[in-house]
Amino acid sequence: MKLARRLQAIKPSATLALNARAKALAAQGVDVVVLAAGEPDFDTPDFVKQAAIDAMKGGFTKYTATSGIPELREAIRQKLEKDNALKFAADQILVTAGGKQGLYNTFQALLDEGDEVIVFAPYWVSYPDMVHLAGGRPVIIPTREEDGFAPDPEAIRRALTPRTRAIILNSPANPTGAVYSRATLERIADAVRGHDCLIVSDDMYEKLLYEGQFLNLGNVAPDLIPRLVVSNGLSKSYAMTGWRIGYVAGPKPLIAAMTMVQDQSTSNASSIAQKAAVAALQGPSDTISAMVAEYKARRDLFVNGLNALEGVRCRMPEGAFYALADVRGLAQRRYKGAPVGDSMRISEILLDDFRVAAVPGDPFGAPGYVRMSFVTSREVLRKGLARLGEFVAALS
Ligand SMILES: Cc1ncc(COP(=O)(O)O)c(C=O)c1O
Repeated sequence: MKLARRLQAIKPSATLALNARAKALAAQGVDVVVLAAGEPDFDTPDFVKQAAIDAMKGGFTKYTATSGIPELREAIRQKLEKDNALKFAADQILVTAGGKQGLYNTFQALLDEGDEVIVFAPYWVSYPDMVHLAGGRPVIIPTREEDGFAPDPEAIRRALTPRTRAIILNSPANPTGAVYSRATLERIADAVRGHDCLIVSDDMYEKLLYEGQFLNLGNVAPDLIPRLVVSNGLSKSYAMTGWRIGYVAGPKPLIAAMTMVQDQSTSNASSIAQKAAVAALQGPSDTISAMVAEYKARRDLFVNGLNALEGVRCRMPEGAFYALADVRGLAQRRYKGAPVGDSMRISEILLDDFRVAAVPGDPFGAPGYVRMSFVTSREVLRKGLARLGEFVAALS
């Protein structure tokens, strides 16, 4: 069948595919250690669920305004002001079905055919494809682990062209776990200041921070706030991935255009989930701190365990919940008589022969690395480390 040309540049989500395969194996009764997930293993807090139950029982089950119910936009406005010292008006905020839809609609509203968006590698898998789907061209700037994955401002300056419409920042980052320092953000701000492009800040992992301080570029460069697009959501910080609530705050004309895109595609995010999101944003934050404390303990356990494996190196992530392990030290070793090969092959061997689901770095723009999430119990992480140890021991 002939499909649209713009789909030719799109790849199926590698993380979703691997997760699906791991789940299928688990459904057959295979004991798989799944380190591929991008979602908290904690349940949504009870007070958030209760708000959804109340909404349903109260008949709050109909369409809402596409941009979201006023009380949720107000709760988001207050959150941005209180947590992030960023002032947006309610009509600069759009509620979306997850962070993904917010970013997707941003590029749909912004890009013309051939417009460019700067993306730093390693990147979250969806950025380049979302840009492609909007007819744009992702311009990839590699970053180096030695620099803490901070982008080189000179590389940004070189990549900026008259067609650059946006640059995406993601800190804490998926898949690196890197958190940008104030100095890094200042350098990025200096590099883009003279260029008329938007700065899309994907703050999805804002609350999942183990070291340092969370800063948005707007905090270090207030003069750039008129060009700032903040994308965030409740999926990761409130363990609400299934509820599909995200939001975008940004320049009024962009938000109006994005609302139009959403008007003609999905309309409002779930009315029930919106009510739950109000409760989450206005409720106690102790559930978040408890989750973060547990993630930190898991991170230490898991990353230290990875670094104890011969040929594996893993930088300690400062945020998010992913360990991005450098496995290039294994490539030349042999498994069952043949060279181990690249990280794609390593992920295959791990799943097929050692029952560990870990995502290869390639689709994240990080060949030679494997991404493993530590959003699972310490017991499962220990089991995963033991199996990874068996794999390394099986190499000659
Ligand atoms: C960096 C980043 N941004 C945004 C999202 C989107 O989150 P959701 O659409 O589930 O709210 C994710 C999810 O994995 C992510 O890793």
